[in-house]
Amino acid sequence: MELERILRSQGFGSKKTCRALIRSEAVTVEGVPCDDPFAEFTSAGLNFTVDGEAWQYREKAYLLLNKPAGYECSNQPIHHPSVFALLPPPMQGRGMQCVGRLDEDTTGLLLFSDDGQFIHRMASPKWKMPKVYRVTLKHPADDAQVAALTSGVQLHDEPAPLAAVACERIDERVLLLTLTEGKYHQVKRMIGAAGNRVEALQRVSLGTMTLPADLPEGAWRWLDAERDLAGMFVAR
Ligand code: URA
Repeated sequence: MELERILRSQGFGSKKTCRALIRSEAVTVEGVPCDDPFAEFTSAGLNFTVDGEAWQYREKAYLLLNKPAGYECSNQPIHHPSVFALLPPPMQGRGMQCVGRLDEDTTGLLLFSDDGQFIHRMASPKWKMPKVYRVTLKHPADDAQVAALTSGVQLHDEPAPLAAVACERIDERVLLLTLTEGKYHQVKRMIGAAGNRVEALQRVSLGTMTLPADLPEGAWRWLDAERDLAGMFVAR
């Protein structure tokens, strides 16, 4: 594939921008400077640098962010900066999207991808993708609240009660709550309906992915589709 097309596919801008970048000697390929936009390379696994920053060619990109509070899961945020501000600019250039959304004040595991089929499958109710939240409560959780969350609570605009598939009390005021749907403010509304209130919310896992303990808030890492995501779509 031509170098100009490689850069375009990886989010470095328009044809014109990528051509100018290459001509300005900002690009190396496998350690060798290249100022020819039409030079041909095998794209799979290609290592290149742009302005000294190292990249690897990825046909589809998947990454995991440890979302901090104070960021909106939107390209056009209204009250707070966008989560995309935490990723390098080429991520937006190549059309990365959030895989589901977290509220502005929710922290934890958030996936991004530009693989439309993957995003669609992750959202499909068919897969009942489990999402585990660490919920810090305002009031100590009693047995009745834990029982209500697993047997089902009625929310105002839902036709039927919603139930957590698991609810583990790990401290007086801390629950590990597992949901398989992803409705608007679902955790906060379910906890409210059970008679308590969410003080802090962190997503700790999604499907087979768990928030890595060594990934600080605000930091992200690449995922490998084969290694990290292949187990996501198993029949449950
Ligand atoms: N449920 C909520 O209430 N908020 C989130 O961010 C995610 C799930």
